[in-house]
Amino acid sequence: MRLTVIGTGYLGATHAACMAELGHEVIGLDVDAGKVAALRAGRVPFHEPRLAEILARHTASGRLRFTTSYEEAGAFGQVHFVCVGTPQRRDGDAADLAYVEDAFAAVARHARKGALLVGKSTVPVGTAARLAERHPVEIAWNPEFLREGFAVQDTLRPDRLVFGVRTARAERLLRSVYAPVLATGTPLVVTDFATAELVKTAANSFLATKISFVNAMAEVCEAAGGNVRALAEALGHDDRIGRAYLRAGVGFGGGCLPKDIRAFAHRAAELGVDLGFLRQVDAINMRRRDRVVDLARELCGGGVLGARVAVLGAAFKPDSDDVRDSPALNVAARLELEGADVTVYDPEAMDNARKAFPLLGYALSAEEALRGAELVLLLTEWRQFREIDPVWAAGLVARPRIVDGRGVLDAERWTAAGWCFRALGGPPPGRNAATGSPRPTPAPRRADGSAGR
Ligand code: UDX
Repeated sequence: MRLTVIGTGYLGATHAACMAELGHEVIGLDVDAGKVAALRAGRVPFHEPRLAEILARHTASGRLRFTTSYEEAGAFGQVHFVCVGTPQRRDGDAADLAYVEDAFAAVARHARKGALLVGKSTVPVGTAARLAERHPVEIAWNPEFLREGFAVQDTLRPDRLVFGVRTARAERLLRSVYAPVLATGTPLVVTDFATAELVKTAANSFLATKISFVNAMAEVCEAAGGNVRALAEALGHDDRIGRAYLRAGVGFGGGCLPKDIRAFAHRAAELGVDLGFLRQVDAINMRRRDRVVDLARELCGGGVLGARVAVLGAAFKPDSDDVRDSPALNVAARLELEGADVTVYDPEAMDNARKAFPLLGYALSAEEALRGAELVLLLTEWRQFREIDPVWAAGLVARPRIVDGRGVLDAERWTAAGWCFRALGGPPPGRNAATGSPRPTPAPRRADGSAGR
């Protein structure tokens, strides 16, 4: 089939490349000529495993092209996927729909007769119906659930497909587009516009709620001397609860969960439904960042003024270079404001971090960030950080003190290597981090044999 993908950001670039991979002829459109030029040259402007390879293969074969022209896209496509962003509005929690509205208007103006316009962007419920009223074209809604770092896999082998349609013809067209995906047994839910829009916001709200639930349990563990890692593991063995999204830590960030739960609560309130618990989910999430700042102050003897702090991680999660609403950078910036001398290192997100927070200090490696540090904060759980040898690291820092903000390090091992170790949701100092039971703390030692603290 001949498809177009309007908007070549994270979602659009991935969708365009994956649709070509499924065998379709695809034109990706963006109003940003710079993005189009980069994609034409086979350059992916963000870190996403496998995407560059798929993009290069199909731009070379001619099956995937990019343009800035709505005339060209309109004349070409049988089905147009709208994948533009819906950022949070500057004046509040609502989603800004300007890009979606502009894209639908422009495609509707140039589309061939009988073309189907499919929205993929995350929008407030009611948007598709309004667009259908406004434009004399057929519309469908097909939400996208891809995670950064797994975008290709999530698009080619999704957990489910959701089609919000008003006609059998729209359903038929979408079934043809996704025929190779459906052939592998992918579950399909065919429903109305409103439900299709809601599935996306409900899914993100549920995931955010799970994370904030476990982070609230972390707060209780901190107060009661429990251990949230053991608690989450025990909860996760219950199939009704499941293990996923129960990792306690500095909380969720990124371009989706934070803005989506705020926009959803806002939209529900407009409809007269109070989703106040989502505001709690948001508040618990933000409190985790405060907690890391508090722990940093505590470990530095009451304040961080003048302290050399190494922050490991800048991306909002590992295997991504995205720093939007990154808990790691938020904490780093707050410590810098309190007078700490902060050095950040991230394996992939350095350029984006520098652009977003130009005043922070940056290192070219974890080793460089650790050298001379008086406090280490692990805030994005990249594999290379999880695998740091505590004995080696103790030999680099000025003072072996660490906060594991993602609950991924082995507390016993780090403590045995002489570190003053604190984790979010971990027991207070002097208790066994694995069991929560009291135990003697070994005298901290540096790798070079000198006294640790
Ligand atoms: C999310 C949804 O997963 C995806 O379905 C939707 O399409 C877009 O939003 P993404 O933003 O890429 O995807 O990130 P995700 O992997 O879901 O992680 C979100 C945040 O939650 C990250 O900051 C991550 O560190 C955090 N997280 C995740 C936790 O703190 N604990 C967990 O157990 C899981």
